[in-house]
Amino acid sequence: MFYKGEIIQIIEVESYNMKKQSLLLIVTLTILFSACGDNVYNTGKYDGIDQKVDSLLSLMTLEEKIGQLTLYTSDMDQTGAFLRPEYIEDIKTGSVGALFNAYGAEFTRELQEMAVNETRLGIPLLFGYDVIHGHRTIFPVPLAEASSWDMDMIKLTAEIAAREAASEGLHWTFAPMVDISKDPRWGRVVEGSGEDAFLGSKIAAARVHGFQGDDLSDEYTLAATVKHFAAYGAAQAGRDYHSVDMSDRELREVHLPPFKAAIEAGAVSIMTAFNDLNGIPATASTYLFQDILRDEWNFEGFVVTDYTAIMELLYHGVAKDAHHASKLAMDAGIDMSMQDGFYQKTLVDLVEDGRVSESQIDRAVKYVLRVKFQLGLFDDPFRYSSVERQEVEIMKPENLAIARDMARKSIVLLKNDDQVLPIKENIKTIAVIGPMADNQRDLLGSWSAAGDWSQSVSLLDGLRNNNPDVTFIYAEGTGIDDESRSGFNEAVAAARQADMVILALGEAYWMSGEAASRSDINLPGAQEELAKEVYSAGKPTVAVLMNGRPLTINWLDDNIPAILETWFLGTTAGDAISDVLFGEYNPSGKLPMTFPRNVGQIPIHYNMRNTGRPFDADSKYTTKYLDVPNEPLYVFGHGLSYTEFDYSPISLSSKTMQVSDSLEVSITVRNIGEVAGEEVVQLYLRDKVASVSRPVRELKGFQKIHLNPGESTEVVFTITNEELSFYRIDMSYGSEPGEFSVFIGGNSRDTQTAEFELIE
Ligand code: BGC
Repeated sequence: MFYKGEIIQIIEVESYNMKKQSLLLIVTLTILFSACGDNVYNTGKYDGIDQKVDSLLSLMTLEEKIGQLTLYTSDMDQTGAFLRPEYIEDIKTGSVGALFNAYGAEFTRELQEMAVNETRLGIPLLFGYDVIHGHRTIFPVPLAEASSWDMDMIKLTAEIAAREAASEGLHWTFAPMVDISKDPRWGRVVEGSGEDAFLGSKIAAARVHGFQGDDLSDEYTLAATVKHFAAYGAAQAGRDYHSVDMSDRELREVHLPPFKAAIEAGAVSIMTAFNDLNGIPATASTYLFQDILRDEWNFEGFVVTDYTAIMELLYHGVAKDAHHASKLAMDAGIDMSMQDGFYQKTLVDLVEDGRVSESQIDRAVKYVLRVKFQLGLFDDPFRYSSVERQEVEIMKPENLAIARDMARKSIVLLKNDDQVLPIKENIKTIAVIGPMADNQRDLLGSWSAAGDWSQSVSLLDGLRNNNPDVTFIYAEGTGIDDESRSGFNEAVAAARQADMVILALGEAYWMSGEAASRSDINLPGAQEELAKEVYSAGKPTVAVLMNGRPLTINWLDDNIPAILETWFLGTTAGDAISDVLFGEYNPSGKLPMTFPRNVGQIPIHYNMRNTGRPFDADSKYTTKYLDVPNEPLYVFGHGLSYTEFDYSPISLSSKTMQVSDSLEVSITVRNIGEVAGEEVVQLYLRDKVASVSRPVRELKGFQKIHLNPGESTEVVFTITNEELSFYRIDMSYGSEPGEFSVFIGGNSRDTQTAEFELIE
């Protein structure tokens, strides 16, 4: 059955490209009188769009369809961005449907013109890019933003990143990365939100809302890609791309929730992970992409592989040749291949010999085309490539102001003995020592998109610009990753001349991120030695860390009175750190990831199970190490302030809760210090007896509050059955009646406690 409206929509599809209209109209009208295929996802949600997609699909040859499933990269050389000649040819023949790493209003317009004007159907290209934490204005790395626990700010920075990127011709970002990891050796922890599924899920949703806004067709938004599905952050031994072997319970409780949250927030694409999960490479996993993603979660967007991941099925040893690899990926429900060209090279053959059906291809193409329609590309394929908009949107002063605010909120004060910080007014000369001090490049961290590091504010510049009355003496001391001690004397001399020392230490930007695992997560090179030498000058000393993962910093913790974790804060890093050091901003960040004492404790995380032999210092046969405490150096949720917060006992609206009901848990928090400050009030739960052993505590709520000195507020959390649910012994999801403990505090360890009972 056809409806009149459908004919009109079909004509609309074509009308953006007048040149082809007459040809298409003839083809379309012919097709209108042939059979109408079933719409595989006719949910009503995409009314209009799905009919246009179906109409367009009915005009396409097999080769054109496969083109829509093919994604290639643009390249860069000294002369700028360019596309390889073979890809130009592919655009002109409709053999590629999407490009990545190509941006800039003019460049994308030029490429789009080829697709629209030179192909038979004129289907627009989709332009993707890794806009991970900013496009031109670079915000703090995701792990840093996660330390803010500030969902509004996280959403806002994603929104600005989208605005900047979308004005440079981009439609689609390969973010948010939502992989949970309990292993700081894995370099990609810098791109994620840390170790916790609850916090990670909130952040995943905030980022998707930020990137996509309420309307994908708005030319200031980007389509989001939640990645890497799934369990990539659990790579064995923290080695990137390594195998993952885990229980379904761990997968569903820890690793999947942020993906689900991102999808519920509306993410329209998802990227496969490189790893195998229990022996099956994710990119060939029907369990992940069909059973969970489509059948359980009803995902309606499209699946893109990670870079060359179909080809890598050969190395995983599950495919014997390219055809076999593509068939496995197609059967798993992988819609678009990134960069390996395997679909382009093999799918025609596979359809011809019957190993892949054309309806499988159609299904994938529909998912891709639907997003192109949602983005408005068929209304105006050039709407995102606007030179005027690009000039206005890029690095606007307000973007930089927000970047500075986000950066301040991302800083975690790990330690502050004797209130060394904030820096007092009587301090007139400060020695700024270390390889991160006069450093712009590393501040942007990994994945800095189109960010220009030469525009970033170094710590030294930030200090000098914001504090004209203070003299700063700079000495590098040593490099980030070299063993040279030749600068030590100069550094110690600088310290001796000063009232105070700021030691700026850390990792290079390339030491975290993809393919950047480390088996030793101490400060690299001779930096700790430098710290020891400088400390021996006897001046009040503050360590400012810049790094992409939790580090093992026992010596600093034992000796240096104040330590600031600043991660990589992006374009305005130096200004933001100066704000915190001098008390212009009172730090409020809390760790989203545990800091171990040594790598032997890894994987380490706060929400472990109790074991049958809980730790007892006096009893040998209890869970412990001989050589290091079980406790980490800094717990999940830890972060100090220049003020102090007092927590009252917890009060409950009732000692019992019905499964169908809810419970109010409240606590009064008072600022008992001298300055105003923000606090992240964290709520954890423990199910004391259940059919499976439950974690000793799990984050189930948090609120960020602001209190003036002396001010107090009541913070109220509502607990429902959802917060008490888990995967029970039979893997069904739900709660079990019984006793629960609730903990509230400013970190995952130092909390108030109360008990309640869940009754049926
Ligand atoms: C990474 C992805 C990224 C892709 C495209 C891969 O190597 O794993 O996270 O989106 O490259 O740049």
